[in-house]
Amino acid sequence: MKIYKIAVIAGDGIGPEVVDEGIKVMKKVAELDDRFQFEFTYFPWGCEYYSKYNKMMDEDGLEKLKNFDAIYLGAVGFPGVPDHISLWDLLLRIRKEFDQYVNIRPIKLLNGAPCPLVDGSRDTIDMLFIRENSEGEYAGAGDWLFKGKPEEVVLQTGVFSRKGTERIIRYAFEIASKEEKTLTSISKGNALNYSMVFWDEVFNEVKEEYPDVKTYSYLVDAAAMLMVKDPGRFEVVVTSNLFGDILTDLGAALAGGMGLAAGANINPERSYPSMFEPIHGSAPDIAGKGIANPLAAIWSVSQIFDFLGYEEIGERILKAIEFLVEESAVLTPDLGGIASTAEVGDRVVEILNQNVQQVI
Ligand code: NAD
Ligand code: IPM
Ligand code: MN
Repeated sequence: MKIYKIAVIAGDGIGPEVVDEGIKVMKKVAELDDRFQFEFTYFPWGCEYYSKYNKMMDEDGLEKLKNFDAIYLGAVGFPGVPDHISLWDLLLRIRKEFDQYVNIRPIKLLNGAPCPLVDGSRDTIDMLFIRENSEGEYAGAGDWLFKGKPEEVVLQTGVFSRKGTERIIRYAFEIASKEEKTLTSISKGNALNYSMVFWDEVFNEVKEEYPDVKTYSYLVDAAAMLMVKDPGRFEVVVTSNLFGDILTDLGAALAGGMGLAAGANINPERSYPSMFEPIHGSAPDIAGKGIANPLAAIWSVSQIFDFLGYEEIGERILKAIEFLVEESAVLTPDLGGIASTAEVGDRVVEILNQNVQQVI
């Protein structure tokens, strides 16, 4: 039997609340399947850790994480620690140092999930965002000159390397080709006259290698409008780090809200562990109340199974989430229900259990 080692960084705010439910689901699946077991190691890193030790994670934290099969993360950031410190010293550091350059974010409207569009449907809201996750506007490059003086100038440099741009675009083409989907590139070459002109050039070059893939290119402002007006035209989407961050929150809103939006930070070469997390933050406004929606975190668990090569289990977990949303008996307040975080996790486990009994 295979034993997978999972590093758990529950983090801040609702992070630990939703991660508990994801782990409940992983334990249940392992109990029902004798091919594997999970061994969980918890790392207490985050803003509370910072307030005690003046650091977000241990100095040798990356060394400690290096040999895990996957990292499961809740959320990072909480009032009291400046966001640029908490995020750069933990979440962004892991993404960058472990070269998790692919951020996969499905935007999929499940049956029964609320959609703010009058004509939003399961057929039209079904996109796979491939966000560049290692450079661009998140390169951490910049300068702060003449601080506090009238001539103060601040630079935040977007870094787009050939290697970084080509590899993410090629990754997206591979998925689109394999899944026989269209591929849309979202950029902004009209105003960003270096970075996005380069992005468009690389996209057009790589496109030559994939004559089977139908492609579209949109400017990011128009793309934001089209995601609302005509979401059905997007299937696989590739975009830069910052645009991907913004558009996937918009996408989350189209597909039922932040409580249903999952993400995987992948290092495709598997030289380092990949990291799985809901795309929402620590939600300080509802933290500690036991009402956070754990479905995004549970969806990320489904992505862990896909990554480990058990796609049929990933699919089964997603079906269980959809079944729960559609039956609408056990939902947290963000989806119009009165259930607690733990009750939703318990219901997913129950559904998985019943499914398996039925199959047997
Ligand atoms: P947020 O995603 O935490 O919250 C935005 C809104 O969505 C809030 O009203 C919140 O209650 C709601 N929400 C989010 N997740 C929910 C869930 N699972 N169930 C129900 N409602 C949910 O974004 P924010 O308020 O802008 O950020 C809060 C903190 O989290 C900041 O410190 C920010 O930097 C950090 N953050 C971290 C991550 C991450 O760790 N990946 C992502 C985004 C923001
Ligand atoms: C996300 C988050 C992060 C990002 C923040 C917290 C740095 O918003 O995962 O979407 O911008 O990537
Ligand atoms: Mn975000």
